[in-house]
Amino acid sequence: MTGLVSANPVWKSLALQAQAAARVSLRELFAADDQRWRHFHLELDGWLYDYSRQHITEAILTDLLRLAGEVRLPERIAAMFRGDAINLTEGRAALHTALRSGFAGSAEIQKEVRDSRRALSSFAAEVRAGTQLGFTGRPFRHVVNIGIGGSDLGPLLVCDALRAQYTGGITPHFVSNVDRTQLQDLTRQLDPAETLIIVCSKTFTTQETQANARAARDWIASRLGEAAVPKHFVAVSTNAAAMDAFGVAPDRRFTMWDWVGGRYSVWSAIGLVAELTLGTTVFEEFLAGASAVDRHFSQAPLERNLPVLMGLIGVWNRSFLGLPTLAVLPYDQRLARLPAYLQQLDMESNGKSTTLSGERVDYATAPVVWGEPGSNAQHSFFQMLHQGTLSAALDFIAPLRNSWGDALAQDLALSNCFAQAQAFAFGLNADEVAASMQAAKASEADIARLTPHRVHEGNRPSSVLLYGETNARSLGGLLALYEHKIFVQGCIWGINSFDQFGVELGKKLAAGISMSGKGPITGPGSAAVAELIAYVNRTRAR
Ligand code: F6P
Repeated sequence: MTGLVSANPVWKSLALQAQAAARVSLRELFAADDQRWRHFHLELDGWLYDYSRQHITEAILTDLLRLAGEVRLPERIAAMFRGDAINLTEGRAALHTALRSGFAGSAEIQKEVRDSRRALSSFAAEVRAGTQLGFTGRPFRHVVNIGIGGSDLGPLLVCDALRAQYTGGITPHFVSNVDRTQLQDLTRQLDPAETLIIVCSKTFTTQETQANARAARDWIASRLGEAAVPKHFVAVSTNAAAMDAFGVAPDRRFTMWDWVGGRYSVWSAIGLVAELTLGTTVFEEFLAGASAVDRHFSQAPLERNLPVLMGLIGVWNRSFLGLPTLAVLPYDQRLARLPAYLQQLDMESNGKSTTLSGERVDYATAPVVWGEPGSNAQHSFFQMLHQGTLSAALDFIAPLRNSWGDALAQDLALSNCFAQAQAFAFGLNADEVAASMQAAKASEADIARLTPHRVHEGNRPSSVLLYGETNARSLGGLLALYEHKIFVQGCIWGINSFDQFGVELGKKLAAGISMSGKGPITGPGSAAVAELIAYVNRTRAR
């Protein structure tokens, strides 16, 4: 299909249905169809996706599925798994699926992946068994992952979410921010003799990672001697020359490929810190969970395809209902870092306004993705979501049991989750407020005065995604579901979900700004930046 998808008659039909939808509430949709839950949920392979509280009808869903056909989604999915160069602006494949699914990519790529997995698992086994030792002969008890963006958020989420499955006596730590605070805190508490540092950087040129890695190198060299550096550093990168320059020993390098995007790289050697902490068996369960979702996504018909439905509903909420944000609300503290992970995955992938054929879109693309675990979130920003002027799309995500397998302890979390989904959808109207105040014996004056404050408009759409418990397998599946959901949305919007030119400009400008105030700053607004630098230097000198 050439041209903007918004010119397609199916898109126009959906736009008309969105106008009609604005006049019908979720209450009315439920009142009109007592089988609504049956019509709008999907249960498969341990996942339950309840989208009955989304503002859709059978006709809207039919059109959304037709739209997927119009953009040739099945062919696009097949092309991704085959390893076609679907990242057109960079002339590359997007083959993160090959890292976990033997049916993705060519036989040659699969062999490279197997070789890499072998090298990673044997290194992890040696470190965990204490046969790979530090310079002074002590086993490693701490691993510090230095990386940013996809080289940080994925491994951090996996280690955090699977904390209950740590074995082997290794504690993971993460350093990402350029301000070096995280490293400063760690070097005050860790013993360098038992600390292994992984420099994770696909390019090995990222400013933040380079600055932190150099500082960590100085720390090791100053405490253990320069000769200790090769023993205490490991690197994951595609850039051999830069690893040479840094002094990473040849047997301490793990490979990456240009067909793995940073935000899709947790399945690769970038996940090494997680494999060290959790062991290879658990890490491979994580890969297997994602692989099961890959198989489903690549084979299931569109109308029973979970990531396809999630993606189509995302497009409906963003481009047709105009909801600007997606709040990710995991009812499991183990998934506290999931919103941050999905923020990069979604916004760096689909935060684009130019189509693959170079046209400017005339519809909304990626939402602002954010969130916090429930029930904490209920006591901070839910007020705005219930009664504020902005309406958000909401993804409730919850395991049936908590990570130590207890269903009863999770019941409170689940009852909160379901209550919130209900409150967002149906709200509380003026009659109901008045009735409950009358029942509480409030005066007529108070009822009149307070009712407007107590009304909840409702009509806020949400999905509920349930699964057994947060473990390696379900976490792998969950991340793959969202990866594919985001891919589906990118296909519908006609954008390239796999490049990220938008992060380049700031990097380039930062490289040209010297806080010494000596070098000339060029470009629009440079005088104002020079004033900021002058202010910093003046004020610091006081
Ligand atoms: O912020 C842009 C970005 O390129 C991300 O896509 C990537 O995950 C991150 O920087 C880190 O890149 P690298 O792994 O090359 O250091």
